[in-house]
Amino acid sequence: MLHKKRIIVVITGTPGTGKTTLARSLSRRLGGTLLNINDIILSNKLYTGKDEFGTRIVDLVKLRKKLLEMINSSSGTLVLDSHLLSDIVIEGHCNAMVYAIVLRLHLKPLLKRLIARNYPDAKIKDNIVSEALGYCSRMARERYSNVIEIESGRGALSMAMKELEKAHVRTRELDYGNELLWIIRKHPEYAI
Ligand SMILES: Nc1ncnc2c1ncn2[C@@H]1O[C@H](COP(=O)(O)OP(=O)(O)O)[C@@H](O)[C@H]1O
Ligand SMILES: [Mg+2]
Repeated sequence: MLHKKRIIVVITGTPGTGKTTLARSLSRRLGGTLLNINDIILSNKLYTGKDEFGTRIVDLVKLRKKLLEMINSSSGTLVLDSHLLSDIVIEGHCNAMVYAIVLRLHLKPLLKRLIARNYPDAKIKDNIVSEALGYCSRMARERYSNVIEIESGRGALSMAMKELEKAHVRTRELDYGNELLWIIRKHPEYAI
């Protein structure tokens, strides 16, 4: 066990950055339980409809309420994985040390992963711009005091483990904003 107090690790980041992959390995390494936010949203019908891409619009107030219920009625280490966690305040509402991991990825490999997912062009553009702006990072920094920002890749798990040992951690913000020009030059279809 890393700390005396229970820990909750929230993994956020733009879709495609590798949250689910890291969440699985991290929860195994920590001996914790992985909460699949998507399953929770679907099984509890925590959505209001679908957006223009066919993605469900999540009711964040209901999702937060449900998550806090689940967190506060359970024990042990929990790992939560969803880009929506940047938009939800959990810290201060549960008896645990909360860490937010923000996974980041350079725009070029992110674009490759999003294209591989067959997302519509407009959805790819939204996600690329979100990563360029550091949306999840900025929001997570507003809502969590312990923020671990990590570049997706082979070293992500060991970097996460190292930072989670600290009683307080706030790593520097990564900035891929200047890579947007490369994307737009190469792929004018993703111009803003
Ligand atoms: N560290 C990594 N190195 C290489 N590819 C990765 C890595 N992490 C994730 N991926 C790949 O990127 C894609 C998106 O990963 P995923 O974990 O589903 O991201 P997210 O949950 O953030 O949407 C998957 O195809 C996955 O295999
Ligand atoms: Mg995922």
